[in-house]
Amino acid sequence: MTRLDDPAALARLDPHDARRVLAEFPAQCRRACTLQSDPPLRAARPRVVVVAGMGGSAAGGDLLAVYVAETVDVPIIVHRGYGLPALAGPHAVVIASSYSGDTAEVLSAFDVAVARNVPVVAVTAGGALAERATAARRPRVALPAGLMPRMALGYLFFPALPLLAGCGVEVAPADEIDEALAALDALARDLVPERPAADNDAKRLALSIGDRLPAIYGGPATGLIAYRWKTDIEENAKTFALAGALPEMNHNEIEAWRSTGAKDMHVVLLRDRGEAPEIARRFRVLHDVVGPSAGGVSEAWGRGQGRLSRLLTLTYLGQWTSYYLAILRERDPWSVPLLDEMKRRMRTPAAP
Ligand code: F6R
Repeated sequence: MTRLDDPAALARLDPHDARRVLAEFPAQCRRACTLQSDPPLRAARPRVVVVAGMGGSAAGGDLLAVYVAETVDVPIIVHRGYGLPALAGPHAVVIASSYSGDTAEVLSAFDVAVARNVPVVAVTAGGALAERATAARRPRVALPAGLMPRMALGYLFFPALPLLAGCGVEVAPADEIDEALAALDALARDLVPERPAADNDAKRLALSIGDRLPAIYGGPATGLIAYRWKTDIEENAKTFALAGALPEMNHNEIEAWRSTGAKDMHVVLLRDRGEAPEIARRFRVLHDVVGPSAGGVSEAWGRGQGRLSRLLTLTYLGQWTSYYLAILRERDPWSVPLLDEMKRRMRTPAAP
């Protein structure tokens, strides 16, 4: 029996019960759909939306950007860093997204938005960002606290939909949201630890990757989801992962697949039923070209008809796969000690 099917091993290796948080992700998404900003965001239809966030709190912005890329004529820019780009002016809307509310880069983006008088809303469970939003009388979406930011993706994504609709940017039809939530419910049942490896795609994928370095490749719709898989693997399993997107990686990174290290790597192709025929063909050719040098190749697909369902379920599969990789590698999937140390040291005043 694999360790992934052993409840005692899971209890020992996952003392913070991350598996329960992951199993409750569909419920989190449902609750997230009900969250509103207080007071409501009052802004004209923006020319650009800037989501300022880092790590897990930026991932909701990535999901939003890729979800709307083919349907909404307002660009969604995800800003990972201090301050704000020049395009965040009076005709923009800024969503300052930080689950903890204490991320220095996002606090700086919020301050710049207030100084420039750009419409800004804070999306946070608390911390200094909540305090600053109250002090500056700016709207805030209050998120339920107590999660790891990367495991709060529902809270960091869904509240943006009514926020944008409120300023004239309709993003998600209600039936697409309903379909996505139902697909997540069904997928949760298929991926939880109680479902044995023989019948569980996330466990099977983690076992196929094994000790190899995962290289996750997506297409135009799933390239950013590949990046999210990479960061989930890094934070949960504490191991390196690569991410890239077709067609761009066909023009550079593909050359590295003749190097000797390729046998120690495992390719995961993130496919999408909505992908164009030329992208489907590129995936097939890529498989042929790198397959013989790679340690192994797997494919993963999202579920459902609508783009939101396909993207969210594929992301959720990545969350569980990274969780099971953590268990296989005997890493606590919850805590992130180096990330915490980095934040702590950056908070202490710099030596003169
Ligand atoms: C930790 C995690 C990190 C954080 C990032 C920013 O679980 O996912 O990537 O998201 O360090 O912190 P927050 O999200 O609190 O602004």
